[in-house]
Amino acid sequence: MAIVSQASSSVSQASGSQKPTILVTGGAGYIGSHAVLALQQAGFGVVVLDNLSYGHRELLDEELKVELIVGDTNDRPLLDRLFATHDIAAVMHFAAFINVGESVNDPGKYYRNNVLGTLTLLEAMTAANVKKLVFSSTCATYGIPQAVPIAEDHPQSPINPYGTSKLMVEQILADFDVAYGLKSVCFRYFNASGADPLSRLGEDHSPETHLIPLVLLTALGKRDSISVFGTDYPTPDGTCIRDYIHVSDLANAHVLGVKYLLENGKSDAFNLGNGNGFSVREVIDAAKQVTGREIKVVQCDRRPGDPPALVGSSAKAQETLGWHSQYADLNSILTHAWNWHQKRHG
Ligand SMILES: NC(=O)c1ccc[n+]([C@@H]2O[C@H](COP(=O)([O-])OP(=O)(O)OC[C@H]3O[C@@H](n4cnc5c(N)ncnc54)[C@H](O)[C@@H]3O)[C@@H](O)[C@H]2O)c1
Repeated sequence: MAIVSQASSSVSQASGSQKPTILVTGGAGYIGSHAVLALQQAGFGVVVLDNLSYGHRELLDEELKVELIVGDTNDRPLLDRLFATHDIAAVMHFAAFINVGESVNDPGKYYRNNVLGTLTLLEAMTAANVKKLVFSSTCATYGIPQAVPIAEDHPQSPINPYGTSKLMVEQILADFDVAYGLKSVCFRYFNASGADPLSRLGEDHSPETHLIPLVLLTALGKRDSISVFGTDYPTPDGTCIRDYIHVSDLANAHVLGVKYLLENGKSDAFNLGNGNGFSVREVIDAAKQVTGREIKVVQCDRRPGDPPALVGSSAKAQETLGWHSQYADLNSILTHAWNWHQKRHG
């Protein structure tokens, strides 16, 4: 087991309190790193497991000062050692591959990592008697929506291997509850966006496929233009509408999810969106305002499988977990993301 960075001040504070330690898989990635910060701020101890296939070690070392174990969720001996040497109360499981297009061309890569990696983790957890897990699921498990806003009881019918891999894990989790009493919270996120308001962390995927970072990289001059796929959808301005949830709001929901499980909550699934849809054109226009820069747009044909509108209802998370979004407005999301991108790439 390779421990490349050891806890310093913030973690010692956390472990000095009464709150338990949470294992965060994929904690070097975009959403996982924000969850580490939120857990630390809430006083939890944190250990990160990440194979660094996409994560950023320096953010953990410099900003979060958290213990990082470099390793893979498919490595059962490493997981057994990890659970034997750390007193883990619950797991937040972010580690996965996330590129929808790649999952269509290389499905085995997605099923091996997202499904088998999770199964290996769940078996190691069960063997170590760690029976609480918060799982990063996705609105992609719903497929093409029959109606919006989408509630949790909407049929789940994914249209790509990425979404299917996440639905398979949801089903495995239901079976592990019945068989072993492993309790889980599945969060079905809509579009994660924004950055830590103090710019300590933010989004830096490679390759980048998400609209807001692509727009901001164009504003920064790192890309020539932003492609708008489809301008003839049945929406007010003809472009696709999506639900953008601020990553710090997502992170806070995860803290509430882990507390819910530690207080003996039952297994359940919750949407996490902000309930407001914004069109691609609205995002680009707002980004022009926030950055004060011109952003060149190229209009392209529709992409297959892109629904006109994807907006979630998060009423259940609000009612059951007491979660509320703090940054539901596009301006805050874009301002925080812009500050981060300028710091990271400027
Ligand atoms: N970004 C979004 O809008 C969005 C939406 C819905 C769901 N999700 C889910 O949220 C989670 C986090 O997404 P993200 O945007 O932060 O992605 P990310 O790529 O930034 O982070 C994923 C992290 O997991 C690590 N990882 C991948 N496979 C691993 C493995 N087998 N073992 C150990 N580490 C591994 C990567 O190195 C990376 O640091 C994913 O599960 C994703 O499916 C993301």
